[in-house]
Amino acid sequence: MKTITVSSFKGGTAKTSTSLHLAAALAKYHKKKVLLIDFDAQANLTTGLGLDPDAQDSLASVLQGTKDIQDVILPTEVPNLSLIPADTWLERVEVTGSLAADRYSHEKLKEVLRPLKYDIVIIDTPPSLCWLTESALIASQYSMVCATPEFYSVKGLMRLSQFMESISQRHPFSILGVVLSFWNPRGKSNQAFLDVIETTFPGKLLQSKIRRDISISEASVFGKPVFETAPESRATEDYVSLTEELLKRL
Ligand SMILES: Nc1ncnc2c1ncn2[C@@H]1O[C@H](COP(=O)(O)OP(=O)(O)O)[C@@H](O)[C@H]1O
Ligand SMILES: [Mg+2]
Repeated sequence: MKTITVSSFKGGTAKTSTSLHLAAALAKYHKKKVLLIDFDAQANLTTGLGLDPDAQDSLASVLQGTKDIQDVILPTEVPNLSLIPADTWLERVEVTGSLAADRYSHEKLKEVLRPLKYDIVIIDTPPSLCWLTESALIASQYSMVCATPEFYSVKGLMRLSQFMESISQRHPFSILGVVLSFWNPRGKSNQAFLDVIETTFPGKLLQSKIRRDISISEASVFGKPVFETAPESRATEDYVSLTEELLKRL
């Protein structure tokens, strides 16, 4: 089982869209058995797959020891793709219940995932370097970094890289790659952004870039991946090639 955390230091870098489409493409085109974990209290991934975050339990109750992990795994409309939804209880879960007194609470997620049998687990994280993101990285062998070609996004990369470095000293994981979304092939400052990424994460920039495409947000309204709602779109083409490139690195 390969576990991948998708992270960035910032909101709006397409973490949730990348997690969802990577997972859906692995299940649909590569016949992998995939589990997606929504580990952000905002629950955008959960709603993006057409589910209501208030209607089911999240990993919060599993981390607190009141539920079994099997009881929070839901099937999705995509064959081979399951989801553990998020809810608002994930917010500050580490300071409540049994986790509050647990010195090793950061390792709890790794422990609860251990018995699972999937080919790939993908964890979508909040836009901050918080307990949830740290727990996700500790539970993973791989991490994927999301960025957009904007000055503030690439600046956050430096901070994220330090954060990852400090965690991986105790809990080793490897960086699979940096994926750029909202890509404009004709953007004037593209080279400057690519240079910053190369300096911060040498050799990690993925060739496949996700171009700006309205069909991504349209698909989320339908609660489906873009492969179902817009199979001929640029987004479908880009996510399919991103998935193929990542599979070679796994
Ligand atoms: N390549 C893209 N082109 C256009 N819109 C996108 C693209 N990727 C994501 N979006 C939209 O941008 C918004 C933020 O993306 P999201 O994946 O939720 O980012 P994050 O999880 O990093 O906050 C969402 O409304 C999403 O549908
Ligand atoms: Mg998100």
